[in-house]
Amino acid sequence: MTDFIFPEGFLFGGAIAANQTEGAWNEGGRGLSNIDLIPHGANRQSVKLGKVPHPTLVPGEYYPSHTGIDFYHRYDEDIAMLAEMGLKVFRTSISWSRLFPNGDEMTPNSEGIAFYHKLFQACRKHNMELLVTLAHFDIPMYLVEHYQGWKNRQTIDFFVNFAETCFKEYGQYVKYWITFNEINVVLHSPFSGAGLYFEAHENKQQLLYQAAHHMLVASSKAVHAMREYAPSSQIGCMIAGGSFYPYSCDPEDVFKAMQDERNNTFFVDVQAKGKYPYYMDKFFEENGIVIEQTEDDIVSFKNTVDFVAFSYYASRTSIADISKVEANEGNIIVSAKNPYLNTSEWGWVIDPLGLRITMNHIYERFEKPLFVVENGLGAKDEIEADGSINDGYRIDYMKQHIQAMHAGIQDGVPLIGYISWGVIDLVSASTGEMSKRYGMIYVDKDNSGEGTLERRKKKSFEWYKQVIKDNGIVER
Ligand code: BG6
Repeated sequence: MTDFIFPEGFLFGGAIAANQTEGAWNEGGRGLSNIDLIPHGANRQSVKLGKVPHPTLVPGEYYPSHTGIDFYHRYDEDIAMLAEMGLKVFRTSISWSRLFPNGDEMTPNSEGIAFYHKLFQACRKHNMELLVTLAHFDIPMYLVEHYQGWKNRQTIDFFVNFAETCFKEYGQYVKYWITFNEINVVLHSPFSGAGLYFEAHENKQQLLYQAAHHMLVASSKAVHAMREYAPSSQIGCMIAGGSFYPYSCDPEDVFKAMQDERNNTFFVDVQAKGKYPYYMDKFFEENGIVIEQTEDDIVSFKNTVDFVAFSYYASRTSIADISKVEANEGNIIVSAKNPYLNTSEWGWVIDPLGLRITMNHIYERFEKPLFVVENGLGAKDEIEADGSINDGYRIDYMKQHIQAMHAGIQDGVPLIGYISWGVIDLVSASTGEMSKRYGMIYVDKDNSGEGTLERRKKKSFEWYKQVIKDNGIVER
């Protein structure tokens, strides 16, 4: 029997995000956000991917973010349950349009400000540390429609104003900040990732990388602001992680895997090393992309992050010609199906060793402390006749990933903590479903929005509670 004990002070936690839980989309003075325009059902994909210019609310469509899991009204009872589980750290995000309904105001909406004071105080009352993401896939729709959102350099200033407000108001509670959730997702799911859509005449590639550049500048300026207004906190960047394996040892596949990896990690280069990596000049040139970059941008990039955070659900597999094999669309980035690995009910590859590999890849390249801020299994849960939910499959998944992560630490990778995604069931970002559940706390709501919203502990609740108590997995 082997135990897997983590270093003292290791932070086991749980994560949610404002856009997938809060609901109350038009309460408390909150403004419309890009996320509020992404319907459930057949039209979801085209809106998410930015293929629908100027999306609007369509009568008859169901928009899951409008109600979420009603966290806005139930946060107190939810935080109490998470405290009972013993979470050392709780991750959530601040809805930008709850603080700045249009995004271009200079002073924030006081009701929005008050909500996060109450939420963060509730967490601190239970001694939970906070990890707060400034933008988790959201941007006020007013900025998108009136300023072209991240396509426009002006959005940097609006974001920095939002960030400064957060640091001044909540720096007293929050130990860890992240500027953008999975910043690399902007390239793969532009509207859901960052509120970007494209008109038929627009050069999508050019606009995507220019928008990403603006987000990177905004991130570096937010780092600078945090050092001024919340100097005792730490701040990190975040990507959707998962190393790229070559499909075969054909050098063409190996080369493709290298390129795919670079398209993910250049975001970390800028945020953690302070500049674009050498190969991006060639990439931009070959793809006819011209990044408008000022001297001030280059200076700003010197504000590098304290830690590198990443989500890990799956590894990816790269092949030079994807038309030759079956594709795997799990977790946003399309890659080839890996014949050696099983997948979840939603086709996401399950690869615990991939977490150890990813940790080592990121650390050897950036040499900053790492933080696993999302991991988990999206699965359908059944309520038994006696009311219990026996999610042994979720326990198995987490166990294997925690063990692999432990091995990564033994390899020498400094890891601040492990945060389980969707610790309370929430709306799926990719599909808008409720039935794709990650939680250790069940929420009674279905894919069409029906349900009592009652919370119920799953079997994994007690299991994770014990893991946190033992600071690792102790085989009994
Ligand atoms: C990450 C996102 O990509 O994956 C989360 O940061 C998301 O917002 C999570 O919910 C799981 O993805 P999905 O599509 O199963 O909800």
